[in-house]
Amino acid sequence: MKSKRTEIINAFKAAEGKTISGEELGDQLGISRTMVCKYIKGLREDGYEIQSSPKKGYTLKSVPKLLYPEEILSGLNTTLFGKNIHYFDEAGSSNDIAKKIASTAEEGTIVVVEQQTGGRGRLGRKWASPKGGIWFSIILKPKVALSAASRLTLTVGLSVTNTLRGYGIDAKIKWPNDVLINGKKVSGILTEVEAEIDTIEFVVIGVGINANMSLRDIPEDLRENSTTIRDETGKSIDRVDFLQKLLHEMEQQYIRFNTQPFSEILNDIIALSDTIGKDVKVTMPNRIVEGRVVGISKSGALLLKKEDGDVEEIIAGRCIY
Ligand code: BTN
Repeated sequence: MKSKRTEIINAFKAAEGKTISGEELGDQLGISRTMVCKYIKGLREDGYEIQSSPKKGYTLKSVPKLLYPEEILSGLNTTLFGKNIHYFDEAGSSNDIAKKIASTAEEGTIVVVEQQTGGRGRLGRKWASPKGGIWFSIILKPKVALSAASRLTLTVGLSVTNTLRGYGIDAKIKWPNDVLINGKKVSGILTEVEAEIDTIEFVVIGVGINANMSLRDIPEDLRENSTTIRDETGKSIDRVDFLQKLLHEMEQQYIRFNTQPFSEILNDIIALSDTIGKDVKVTMPNRIVEGRVVGISKSGALLLKKEDGDVEEIIAGRCIY
């Protein structure tokens, strides 16, 4: 049996853009006008654009474009990335789901979640993941040493940056794992590795992109110099198209990662780096270092020139500027 919600959607679709009164909808579905209002409210919350005109009724203006696997797969130009998709309307964290299935999953499998209730960021922080963003994780099985994982994160950061730039957005990379627009964070990457001594069994790379949402949709304590694509450009993007392009770009960069010296990818990262040349503070679990960023090393570490003139290589940390 169809749900009332589906019946309302079908009634709107059958009306082909014409206005339907609340009474008519109620009669068709056998429910009260108050219940019709309730369903309309729910649909609006899920991204359905429904106009209401006093005394006339409701008009369906647009339907949300969800990241349904069928939508992503149709027109996906990759051979491996995104060929297997696990889709959830709501879940805790896509990284957690990906880690559970990673051992048996094929490389390139992705987990896509419309809304994460337990989104995680780096260093144990929370990651706000309301509807409208792009929250997904990819399972990779690179045949590289454990120490190469941070280079993979940078490579994914480059992919996100390039994809945004493809839309004419002036995105930059903030070491180690952020993508910025106008100096504000629009995307973050969380890499988690399962390894046996120095051999990687799998890597789960979680990518979060603040896309069709507003900063107001993020709790105040998590906003921290962030932004969204919609806030910066004044427009929403087609998330399916974006994810298809991003997966293609990630696959191309992954092929490079596996076949070329990292210095090739690094040149591109350096060219789009927001961090090089900045005076920064890097916080690490046991200390804080300050200095000017003079580069990124071949191993993906930050090169920080300190006040005493020494250049320190920082492998991991939180970079503040
Ligand atoms: C950060 O900048 O601190 C990293 C944020 C990573 C967020 C993404 S959203 C998809 C995936 N699932 C998670 O729980 N986190 C990552």
